[in-house]
Amino acid sequence: MSTKFNITFASSVAEKAGLAILLQPKGAAVPAAAQIADPGSVVSRAAEIAGFSGKQMTVLDILAPQQSSFDRLVVLGVGKPGKLSAYDWLRLGGKAASMVKRARAVTVFLDAEGLDIDGEKAADLALGMILQAYVFDSFKTKKKDDEDKPAEEVSVTIVTEAHKKAAAAFSTAQAVAGGVNLARELVNLPPNVLGPVEFAAHAKDLEALGATVEILTETEMGELGMNALLGVAQGSARPPRLAVIEWNGGKSGETPVAFIGKGVVFDTGGISIKPAASMEDMKGDMGGAAAVIGLMHTLSARKARVNAVGILGLVENMPDGNAQRPGDIVTSMSGQTIEIINTDAEGRLVLADALWYCKERFKPQIMINLATLTGAIMVALGTQHAGLFSNDDDLADDLLKAGKETGERLWRMPLSKDYDKIIDSRFADMKNSGGRNAGAITAAQFLKRFVGETPWAHLDVAGTAMNSPATEISQSWASGYGVRLLDQLVRNRYEA
Ligand code: BES
Ligand code: MN
Ligand code: ZN
Repeated sequence: MSTKFNITFASSVAEKAGLAILLQPKGAAVPAAAQIADPGSVVSRAAEIAGFSGKQMTVLDILAPQQSSFDRLVVLGVGKPGKLSAYDWLRLGGKAASMVKRARAVTVFLDAEGLDIDGEKAADLALGMILQAYVFDSFKTKKKDDEDKPAEEVSVTIVTEAHKKAAAAFSTAQAVAGGVNLARELVNLPPNVLGPVEFAAHAKDLEALGATVEILTETEMGELGMNALLGVAQGSARPPRLAVIEWNGGKSGETPVAFIGKGVVFDTGGISIKPAASMEDMKGDMGGAAAVIGLMHTLSARKARVNAVGILGLVENMPDGNAQRPGDIVTSMSGQTIEIINTDAEGRLVLADALWYCKERFKPQIMINLATLTGAIMVALGTQHAGLFSNDDDLADDLLKAGKETGERLWRMPLSKDYDKIIDSRFADMKNSGGRNAGAITAAQFLKRFVGETPWAHLDVAGTAMNSPATEISQSWASGYGVRLLDQLVRNRYEA
């Protein structure tokens, strides 16, 4: 179970008990002895002995001095104060959370030399704590031994002069935490538990936050001519869904910004079946749709001043007697025909109809799709950057900037006519696979054929959404990548 941090902000702390966490910038004096009652300068002696200098993300973990009413002290190095980004504050919060261990009451003293704490920094630190605490263990029936079992609830008091502004900023941060952890949870869930219908029910839940949610069934998608999406779904016993989530917090009548997610709840590859090794990871092939639902959660929960649409293409890619074959030709909703070369290149087929539908129905200002689309993007960029493809330089630049701010980094990849022609087909308008070379790019070129003139970006998150390395703010297999990135993009572009 994830530890629940009950976080409050205050200018001082009444009850000095449990764990005290103090921040120490590099080059500054060891933190205020007054906060913790340390007449014997135990903390500075301990720092000296341990060689602790305030270097970023290092910690000094000691028993509290005798005169102090705290039990334990952790001094957290913050590095050079001038250089701290918003993401650094999240990481510091995550590091602080990882030091809580058996403590049930935690006081974090934020104000330190040169840190210039404001509401944003304090709220980011709190957000980092919540994100770090997320664990997915609901399917484990044997709980951990008492010694290393984290507390179910911990009360956290964050002490800073900026406590009023921090409390206000924290309500927004909680909306972000809710969105990221929702995305993580859906990606982590096993595929027998989370099919297209179950995923759509999670989308419907966003109505409680004031969003409007419509779920299209197979029949309705058939009437719309979404044969590219339906072709993928036809080999599965579980029917597909298209979820349409609207949050209208902007000017009434203003055209929305749109986010579209690949939601393949499990990708066997279909008839072009995948090898057995690591196929279980393909439960995460809905990481794009998870990021979109997480983002829509965040925007609704923090009442973002924007009109936004989230569209989730929810299908399962299975091989059965009715499954789509290599050689099949399908007519997409756009009217363009597609020759199926490889049934494992299914994500682009789902997105082709979802993008076209979005464009026709909403005429959005911009469209951004997220998809665990290709293994090729992992070969190119690993787990450190998601691939960014765009037909619009302004949008691409804004995304790159939001990526740097949030630590959800992007690397721009090329699009061009000569890549596009690789997916021309002998028998139809296009084929769904251009082969091994430039695999991430030809997949993006395929999507581009379904966005018309709309400013659009495609984020290939195959390397960043799942199977994620642990970071200061995540110990989860599913990172929740994309929620903070796109929330930041919305803030910068539409709410500033
Ligand atoms: N879902 C996969 C891509 C993927 C692979 C995501 C590994 C995360 C981890 C996608 O549907 C796929 O199978 N892509 C193929 C495309 C190829 C057949 C043209 C790929 O990348 O190999
Ligand atoms: Mn596939
Ligand atoms: Zn896939």
